Parts: sequence; C-alpha cells; structure tokens
Amino acid sequence: MKAVCWHGAMDMRVETVPDPKILNPQDAIIKITSTAICGSDLHIYNGFIPTMQSGDIIGHEFMGEVVETGSEVKKLRKGDRVVVPFPISCGQCFFCQRDLWSLCDNSNPNPNAGMIEKLYGHSPAALYGYSHLFGGYAGGQAEYARVPFADVGPIKIPEGLRDDQVLFLSDILPTGYMAAENCNIQPGDIVAVWGCGPVGQFAIQSALLLGAERVIAIDRIPERLNLAQQLSDRVQIVNYEEIETGEALKEMTGGRGPDACLDAVGLEAHGMGLEGFYDKVKQTVRLETDRPNVLRQAIVACRKGGTVSLAGVYGGFLDKIPMGAAFNKGLTLKMGQTHVHKYLQPLLNRIQTGEIDPSYIITHRLPLEEAPHGYDIFKHKKDNCVKVVLKPHMS
Ligand SMILES: NC(=O)c1ccc[n+]([C@@H]2O[C@H](COP(=O)([O-])OP(=O)(O)OC[C@H]3O[C@@H](n4cnc5c(N)ncnc54)[C@H](O)[C@@H]3O)[C@@H](O)[C@H]2O)c1
Ligand SMILES: [Zn+2]
Ligand SMILES: [Zn+2]
Repeated sequence: MKAVCWHGAMDMRVETVPDPKILNPQDAIIKITSTAICGSDLHIYNGFIPTMQSGDIIGHEFMGEVVETGSEVKKLRKGDRVVVPFPISCGQCFFCQRDLWSLCDNSNPNPNAGMIEKLYGHSPAALYGYSHLFGGYAGGQAEYARVPFADVGPIKIPEGLRDDQVLFLSDILPTGYMAAENCNIQPGDIVAVWGCGPVGQFAIQSALLLGAERVIAIDRIPERLNLAQQLSDRVQIVNYEEIETGEALKEMTGGRGPDACLDAVGLEAHGMGLEGFYDKVKQTVRLETDRPNVLRQAIVACRKGGTVSLAGVYGGFLDKIPMGAAFNKGLTLKMGQTHVHKYLQPLLNRIQTGEIDPSYIITHRLPLEEAPHGYDIFKHKKDNCVKVVLKPHMS
C-alpha cells in the first residue's frame, strides 16, 4: 500500500510499504477513506518529537471502512464505516475505566513505555503515528491501518453523514471541546483563546456552545481570525501583531482579565520581540524543548481565580514559566491529550442534529500522493490553508 513516511525534519515521502496485518485477535484493518494533517503532525514534521525513526508511517486523524477483523472482535463487521480516535486505549485498565482514555496503561508496550516512564514518571496511552515514545504504531496517513482494541475505539457512523462532517471526531473536535469544558465556563464568562488553527476554531465554537458570554480569539493570520469572527457576534478578535495581547485583553475585560485562558497553540508558539528571540535560540541549541510564549501570556492575563486550559501540546521542559503568578492568583491549570473516546457519541449526536458542522474548516482535499505538498502549505499557511484532508483512494 501507499503511506506517508517520515524521513527527517521537513522530509515526508509517500512510499510503498507492506500492507498492515492482523497481529492480535482484537485488531481490525481499516481501509482509509479520509485522513487529515494535524498541528500535532507539524511538531513531528518540524523535528521536535524525539524517537521518530526513518520510514515511520505518520497520521492519527483517520476514518474508513472495516475490511478485516480479528477473531475476538465482536462489535465491528466488514463493511462498517468508522472513525478512529487518536489515542489507542484498551478499555479495561484503571484509567480507561475512569474515562481517562489518553492515559491508558496497556497500549504502550515496552521498551517504549520504559523510555517514556524515565521522562514522565509514567507512560500515557500510545498514539497512532506519533513516535516510538508513544508506542511506535503505524499511523493513518495511508491506504490501510491496523486498529488495535477494535471493539473499544472506533465509532460506527450512521448513514447519511459525509466523511467531511465526521472525520474530525478522531481528534480536533473533541480536543477543542475538552479544552473548553476544562475552562469550567459559568454564565457571563469571557474566554480568551490563543490560536485560531483547527483546534482553536473548535475550542472557540465549543466555548460558545458551553455558554461563554464572549470569546476573544487571538492569532495573526487574517483568514483564521476571520473564520473565528464569522462563528458568532459573541467573538471578538485580536491580531497580536497589531496590538499587544496582554494590554488588549485587559482593556476588553474591564481590567479584570479573562475568566479562562485557553492555549490552542502549544510548543511551537510564535514569539515576539526579545522573548521570542530568547526562546527560539534556546530551543535551537536544545537548552529548552518547547517555546512557551503563549502559556506565559495566558497565566499572566488570566483573572485571579480563573482557569488556564491547555489544548496545545507540550513535550518536554519549559523555561521561565511564571509559577509565582499562577500560584498567587490561585489559578487552576488543566491540560492533556484528549480523552477522545469519551466525546465521540455526544459530539456525533450534535453533528447529527446539525448543531455542529465541523467541515467548514477544510480548505484543501488532496490525494495521498500530494501529502508532502499538504504539509508544506499547512505549515507555512500558504494558499489560505487551514486544514488539509488527504484522500488515499481518490481516483
Ligand atoms: N491536546 C490534544 O490532544 C491535541 C490534539 C490535537 C492537537 N493538539 C495541539 O493543538 C495545537 C494546535 O493545533 P492546530 O492543528 O490548530 O495547529 P495550527 O498550527 O494550524 O494552529 C496554531 C495556530 O496558532 C497560531 N499562533 C502561533 N503563535 C501564536 C501566538 N503567540 N499567539 C496566538 N496565536 C499563535 C498560529 O498562527 C496558528 O494559526 C498544536 O500544539 C497541536 O499539537 C493537541
Ligand atoms: Zn491531531
Ligand atoms: Zn486502558
């Protein structure tokens, strides 16, 4: 089959690789009809995720048709159309039983789990196509994928819904939703969202659905700010290249600060001025792993007693985090890889009733062969790119 393989920073190649096989009786093989490129894939593309190996198949946002099932798979049948959540979860362990799906204890096998335990203390769940630290599983930017624990993760899609409407259940729609839920939104609340990429868009939409009175959307890319603005007249926008974010937020909240600050940017935040330069240099010479400009701003901007919610991914060790501000303002910090499984059915219901149509963010639909071009335009925001969907079987 054809698959998108990583060969180093900025080097994605579409190659012919062996077809996946059933390795465990609980596996299924999915023929992939749609698969997307995520901001998290850009961290791999840009070379910031350790333990990638040349030839690794990447991609963790995918859906398709079941073509084969292992002998112990009971809920799925050949021909079922499914969306696959990006964390791989067993459904049985302490964490899965508590709805903490991205923290599954069983999906990341040794020696990978041993490596990540040294770094994090414990191993979180494995993720499709996301380095050997996270399990070394082949990803879904391919014609086919092996899906372990097939009775646990994939959700069947009812007839009448297009791939475009449901594909983002695999990751970014639940991610935006969980990050908004983590903001503990109360009536009258103002939520500030850094980043108007795909995750930011769904975080803004979810904050509105969950009752925020106003959402302040921050970015510098005009078409992404416009997309956010078009969601509702309860959305206000801040272009951080035109006005200083901290000052703008103070002014827009009567000096008190937003009730919740949501970071939908993560470890590759674009920094301004001296601070931006400092992080760029330290990250380049590996003295820090992540560039936490947005996290710093969110902590400082947040109102006393408010919540900082992180959807943006962080990987390693961060420098100059204003912990004193977080502590003395009594902030709550919430974060994590999304517990996608928990949100699949409720969000599918909202899509079915027409309350949410996530397809509006798709700007590019490309055949799998054009994945390298897709990565380039998504990274550089060329051609007004917001979200790329790859079609492995497009003829
Ligand atoms: N928690 C999870 O489970 C999960 C799941 C999916 C994605 N993510 C993460 O969410 C983040 C966003 O993903 P995406 O697909 O939307 O990526 P993206 O790269 O398309 O969007 C990031 C946006 O942030 C903006 N930005 C950069 N620096 C900024 C700054 N200083 N202030 C304000 N905006 C700034 C960029 O202009 C861009 O529009 C990534 O870190 C990704 O890894 C997390
Ligand atoms: Zn993703
Ligand atoms: Zn588990």
